[in-house]
Amino acid sequence: MTKKILLINGPNLQLLGVREPEIYGVETLPGIVADLRKEAALLGFELEDFQSNSEGALVDRIGEALSSGVDGIIINPAAYTHTSVALRDALAAVALPAVEVHLSNIAGREDFRRRSYTAEKCIGVISGFGALSYKLALRALAEHLASAGK
Ligand code: DQA
Repeated sequence: MTKKILLINGPNLQLLGVREPEIYGVETLPGIVADLRKEAALLGFELEDFQSNSEGALVDRIGEALSSGVDGIIINPAAYTHTSVALRDALAAVALPAVEVHLSNIAGREDFRRRSYTAEKCIGVISGFGALSYKLALRALAEHLASAGK
C-alpha cells in the first residue's frame, strides 16, 4: 500500500509569497505543496496537506493522523513552534516519525525563535533553506521510513 505523508503548515503560512519575502521567499504555499506532492509521488508516497491558523485545528489534525493511515509527518508549526506545548504533546501522542521544517534559519533570528517546543518530538529539523527545506524534509522522512521498514 502507498505510504501516506501528512504535511502540516501553521499560522500565517497561507500568506507565503507576500509575507516578508526577504525572509520567507516568494513562493506561495499552494506552489510549495504542489511541488512537494509531485516529489512525493516520484518517491512513491501520497501527500496529504493541511494548513491552519488555529492551534486547536492543528492539534486535531495531528490527533487524526493515526486513524487516517498517516505514516509520517512533515510540519512547519510556524509561530506555534516557539509557544505550543499542545502541538508538542500531539506529536508525542501519535508518536509518528515527524520532521520539523522552517523556511528561515530560526537559529539565526530573534532569541525567542531559538526555542522549539515541537522539535524534541520530531526525528529532526530542517531550517533555513527556503522552500527547499520542505523537499529536504521529504527526502529525510522518506529515507527514515524506508529504513524503518527494513
Ligand atoms: C517559520 C519560522 C517561525 O519563527 C515563524 O513564526 C514562522 C515561519 C519559518 O518557516 O521560517 O511563521 O516557521
